[in-house]
Amino acid sequence: MTQRDPGVTITPYPDGPLIVRGPAQLIDENGEPIERSRRTVALCRCGASAIKPWCDGTHKLSGFRTAPPGDAPVAPSEAR
Ligand code: FES
Repeated sequence: MTQRDPGVTITPYPDGPLIVRGPAQLIDENGEPIERSRRTVALCRCGASAIKPWCDGTHKLSGFRTAPPGDAPVAPSEAR
């Protein structure tokens, strides 16, 4: 049995950020690299963080909620 290298993983945290683990390179809207000091970072997906793209915990105060487990995500073209 071989050891599996997970490389980069992106995990949605229920009612919270996306947890990025591994050596992913983050790029801003201008194509410039975003410096990161840790191997694991949390990216805001609620839109309320004051330190975007990072999560600052504001999602807890804003009441951000994600779909319950088991609910199928809706493709953008189907959401209209
Ligand atoms: S997901 Fe945490 S502040 Fe937006």
